[in-house]
This record gives sequence, C-alpha cells and structure tokens, in this order.
Amino acid sequence: MALTKKPYRGTRDFFPLEKRIQDYLFSVMHKTAKSFAYEHYDGPMLEEVELYKAKSGEELINDQIYSFTDRGERFVAIRPEMTPTLARMVASVHREEPKPIRWYSIPNLMRYEKPQKGRLREHWQFNCDVFGAPERIGEIEILQMVVELLENFGATSEHFEVLINDRLIVDTVFKKIINASEEDTYRLYKIVDKAKKVKPEAIEKMLGETSLDENQKSHFYRYLKCTSFNDALSFLEEHGKSEESSSLKSLMEKIESIGLDPYLSFDPTIVRGLDYYTGIVFEVFDKSPDNRRAICGGGAYANLLTIFNEDPLPGVGFGLGDVTLKDFLETHNLLPNFDTPKNDLLLTCQFEDGLFDMIALGKELRSKDLNVFLQPAPIKFKKVFNLAAKKGTSCALFYGEDEKAKGEVQLKNLATKEQVNIDLSNIEEMTTFIQKCEQEL
Ligand code: HAM
Repeated sequence: MALTKKPYRGTRDFFPLEKRIQDYLFSVMHKTAKSFAYEHYDGPMLEEVELYKAKSGEELINDQIYSFTDRGERFVAIRPEMTPTLARMVASVHREEPKPIRWYSIPNLMRYEKPQKGRLREHWQFNCDVFGAPERIGEIEILQMVVELLENFGATSEHFEVLINDRLIVDTVFKKIINASEEDTYRLYKIVDKAKKVKPEAIEKMLGETSLDENQKSHFYRYLKCTSFNDALSFLEEHGKSEESSSLKSLMEKIESIGLDPYLSFDPTIVRGLDYYTGIVFEVFDKSPDNRRAICGGGAYANLLTIFNEDPLPGVGFGLGDVTLKDFLETHNLLPNFDTPKNDLLLTCQFEDGLFDMIALGKELRSKDLNVFLQPAPIKFKKVFNLAAKKGTSCALFYGEDEKAKGEVQLKNLATKEQVNIDLSNIEEMTTFIQKCEQEL
C-alpha cells in the first residue's frame, strides 16, 4: 500500500509559500522583542513529564500532552508549552543574572487537540517573559509589548482587544466573598474558564457539582456579570474588599497613563487554564465576529521557580501562536502578498558559452549581499520578464554574444524599464543599480 502524502494530523508542511509567511511572522516577532531588548533563548523539544505535572494544570496533562517512556525508562513529553522550560532555565541561572531577566523564544509546541480553525496539534508560539521586574513594571511592559507587536503588523484597536483580569481578585471573590472551599475554588476557576464557551444550563450543571448553596451561587453569577473594572471594583467594595481592589486600580491607572487603555477591557471570565498564574491574566482577542479566538494569552506567575526549590522570583509573560496570528492578519487583510519569493536579481545569459561567466559573476554579486537567482541555462530575451515576475526580482541581467564581445552586461530595471550597460568587471556599479531597482519597487 502506498504511503500517504499528508502530514500527521494537526501538523503542517511548510511549502515555500507557507514558510515565507511564517518567516515574515517570525521576523516581526524578533524585531519587536529586540526593540524591548529581550534576549533570544531556546530549550529542548523533550522534557520530563514531571515538569508539567508540577504547575501546568489538569487539561494539559490529562488530555493534551504527547508523552512516552524512552529507552532509559524516563517518562518524557514533547513540549506542549514553553513556560515550564523557561522557568527551569531561569531557575538554573537567575542568581548570577542581573534583573530583570528579559527573554524571548519562538518554539514549536505539540498538544493533542482536535484540529480545527485556530487549533492544531503543532504550532509555533512567540513567548516573551520578564523575571524580577519591579512591581507592576513587568506587567505593564508585557502588555505594551503585545500591543506593539500587533501594531507592528499594522493592527489597531479596531482589530483586536486585550481582555484582562487579576487572579488576586478572582481569588478574593471565590475565597472571601463566596467563601468557597479550596476544592470548590479550583472548580470555580474551571467553570469560569468555560463560561463563555458553554450554555447557561451547562454552567448551572457544573455549579451543581460543587457544594455551593444558592446564596454563594448568586455571588458567583454577580461576579460573572461584572463588565468593567469599575463594576468589579464596586463589587469588591460592596463586600468590604477595598484593599484587594486598590491593587487593580493602580494597575489600571498606569495602563491609562501610557495610553494602553483603548486596547484593554476587564473580563471576569479570563482566568486562563494554566495553574501557575497568580496575578494579572490576559488574552488578546480578534474583534472580528468571524474569528473570535484568542490570539495570545499570558499573565503573571509569582511562584513558578519554587518547584525547583528556588526562592520565588516573580515572572510575567505571554505566548502568541502563529496559527491564530495568521488567521487574525488574514481576517483583516493585514498580511502582505507572499505569492512569489523575493530576490534582488535574475541573472541570465542568452547563449550557451555565457553561462560560466554568469556563474562567476553571481559569486561576486552575492558577496555584495545580493540575492541572486541564476537561470541555469540560456534563455531568450523575451522570456526573462515572465521568469523575473515568478522569482520576485525587480532587476534582470542580460548577457548575450554582443555583450560578451564588448566585455559588458546589460541590466534592466523591470519596474521603470530603465536600462544600462555596465562593464563586466564593475561590480560596484552593478550593485548600486540593482539596489536602486529594489528601492524603487
Ligand atoms: P496558552 O494560552 O496555552 O498559553 O497559549 C498561548 C497561545 O498559543 C494561544 O492564545 C494560542 O494563540 C496559541 N495556541 C495554544 N494552543 C494552540 C493550538 N493547539 N493550536 C494553535 N495555537 C495554539 C501558554 O502556553 C502559556 N505558556 C503562555 C505564557 C508565556 N504565559 C506566560 N508566559
């Protein structure tokens, strides 16, 4: 039986077109992270399952992890997320590193999910995290970075919003206002996390599985109805919890002062499925009704390093997936056209004996940082234009018998039709002309 040509379910083959798009997404990620002076790191594809058991949460471990026992009887997983690896790496160096530690990475991750729009089994995830930043500065910087990243793709507050909450507030509501037990608090987190995705009856059913009485449930529903920061603050104040509300208030003031408020809204259902978050939690959503998916998720985690017996070093960060990002950019027509590759020069000759002169010339031009597509056989003058369009070059070089006799090449700007003859040995002049074609495009 012939083997299938399809990739494994939920993964993608990146043919050159798809890879050009992904390279573009990554280039903007690198540029944004570097503009905030974040340093690039990476880790291994495989980790011991224990690493995720410590803090990542039930869903990831029970349903989503790819795990197996290796030949040495170690129980290992293909990384489903980067944060535990990052915490492990930071735990091993943080004593020597000046604070804050600002790192970023673009790992590929695997989760056993039901493949659907925006959800695959393998995705790449832009991760930016900061450890040991002064109180609130880390959170503000991370939020600023998410917004700037999407702005660098041309998006505005018309296209996306950042829905934010604070686990301190949620904890206060669950533990001190609802007075839920530890076990019920854990369940309430899971119910809130699903609140927008399921019908009201399903919420009622899940609440029925807790030990909450009617009065406690009514507090829970009141919390779910909070639609703004002010609403959430009044709810806390109604129950005498003004101390807890003041921390969120100060964060909101700072967010306003740096102009991020048009992007941010409070959402009581944002609690995040991963267990390690302890402070702010947020998700970035596409505002288009056709693509209501989280493009990005993140938050603050104070105690992740303690699983390595280290002192707590507060961290905050986010993960933004390539699948959801591409869907978002496509939805809003923000993705440039990548139909053709991009090269600086199409290098051709029009007679058999000219080819080796062109191979030698190609070497010279590449040393000037030009991307040169060599046509590996003689080609008729008229056919060059079509080929140049396919290979994405704005300049073509011709070398016929006449040019050889004169010791020249002919260069043509394909956009403006400007044409020049340049001495075969004058690499500098050729480079200047080719670069000019690129700029005029
Ligand atoms: P997460 O919410 O699980 O967070 O994932 C972050 C983002 O990765 C999601 O918003 C989504 O864009 C993308 N993503 C997740 N799973 C898939 C999937 N199966 N297919 C396609 N895209 C997906 C985390 O992983 C945290 N570790 C992020 C973080 C970093 N928190 C602090 N620092």
